[in-house]
Amino acid sequence: MSASNHPLILDGKAVAARVRADVAQRVREFVALHGRAPGLAVVQVGQDPASSVYVRNKKKACAEAGIQSFSHDPPATVTRQELLALVDLLNRDSQVDGILVQLPLPAGLDANEIMDAIDPHKDVDGFHPTNTGLLAQKRPALRPCTPYGVMRLAQEYAIPLSGARATVVGASNIVGRPMALELLLAGCTVTVCHTRTRDLAAEVARADVVVAAIGKPQMIPGAWIKPGAAVFDVGINRLADGTLVGDVDFAGASLRAGWITPVPGGAGPMTIAMLLSNTLEAALRRMAR
Ligand code: GUN
Repeated sequence: MSASNHPLILDGKAVAARVRADVAQRVREFVALHGRAPGLAVVQVGQDPASSVYVRNKKKACAEAGIQSFSHDPPATVTRQELLALVDLLNRDSQVDGILVQLPLPAGLDANEIMDAIDPHKDVDGFHPTNTGLLAQKRPALRPCTPYGVMRLAQEYAIPLSGARATVVGASNIVGRPMALELLLAGCTVTVCHTRTRDLAAEVARADVVVAAIGKPQMIPGAWIKPGAAVFDVGINRLADGTLVGDVDFAGASLRAGWITPVPGGAGPMTIAMLLSNTLEAALRRMAR
């Protein structure tokens, strides 16, 4: 591991820009070959303000990469039947290579039921049980964007993963669980921590690789970090004064880590880059089927 008093800041913004430029180049080749752009349907149910920010950023990133996005914004009062009918329409639309239903859904709609209805070949979020199952079986297809982005960042910085002890803090379907599967696939010995973990400090302290995906501002103090460890902070928390902070105490952890992602500018930008990459991948595979 690198010198613990000089952590390498993992520049997610720069790596994401490279991924996006690479996707844009391959999109141009796709257009030349197939006479159409890869298409991403973006479904936002209701008007949750945080979701609106994420959805706007995703559509903007699509446009910059030459991917065509199709917006569907049903009201929060949409019925499950209407939403399932929309998903079915998008599943059968030959212009649509990827379908993204922004989460969370308004109360009363079952996100699992909606995710299950998406054609796994168009599931660019990687949330469908088929894609989760394929990742669990060491046959990754479309991979959840945030964990995939962390893996890409680790690869870009040549962070050694084979045989490393990895601790994932958080066990959500969107980040923690698929993150653990990705790290396992890369040869890590993986521990997954959650709200009932007895000694979180000890689990973090023995990790060569820490992924924090909790959603609680600065919950992991620097003192827990093993000297030289790689720290990936997936948390994005807004404090009362408006500042964005991660799940890790960045200043404290920087004194010990070998590598660390900043918030913002670390894992966050990678997520959108991998969404674009997944959409192109889905389009290429669909045209090859
Ligand atoms: N809500 C928070 N993160 C995500 C994501 O990666 N995809 C979707 N569809 N919704 C989200």
